[in-house]
Amino acid sequence: MRRLLLLFLALLPMSAPAAPAGNPKIGQQLVEKSCIKCHAAMYGGNGSGIYTRSNRMVHNLKQLAARVALCNANTNTGWFPDEERDVVAFLNQQYYHFKQ
Ligand code: HEC
Repeated sequence: MRRLLLLFLALLPMSAPAAPAGNPKIGQQLVEKSCIKCHAAMYGGNGSGIYTRSNRMVHNLKQLAARVALCNANTNTGWFPDEERDVVAFLNQQYYHFKQ
C-alpha cells in the first residue's frame, strides 16, 4: 500500500498541468499531417483560408483550443492534450495572433 502511495506521488508531477505554451514547430507538422484535407477542399490551397477568412469562428485563444479539440475529436486524430497545445500554438503564431 505504502509503495503504491509512493508511486502515486512520484507520478504526480506528470499529471500537473504542463506549461501552457505549446511548440509551434511540432504543431505545424501535426496540422500538415492531419488537418489540411477538408479545409483545403473548402478553401483551396493548403486550406489555411479557413483560419484567415473574415467571418472566421474563432475569436480568442480559448475558442481556438476548443475548436482544435473538436476537430481532433471529430476526425479521430487521437492527439493528446499536449499535442493539441502544440497545434494551438502553431495556428495562433501563424494565423490568429491572439495575445497569450
Ligand atoms: C472532416 C473535415 C475536417 C477535418 C479533417 C478538419 N477540419 Fe477543421 N474544420 C472543418 C469544418 C467543417 C470547419 C468549420 C467550417 C465552418 O463552419 O465554416 C472547421 C473549422 C476549423 C477551425 C476554425 C476556423 C475558424 O473559423 O476560425 C479550426 C481552428 C480547425 N478547423 C482546426 C482543425 C484542426 C486542428 C484539424 C486537424 C485535427 C482539423 N481542423 C481537421 C472540417 C475539418
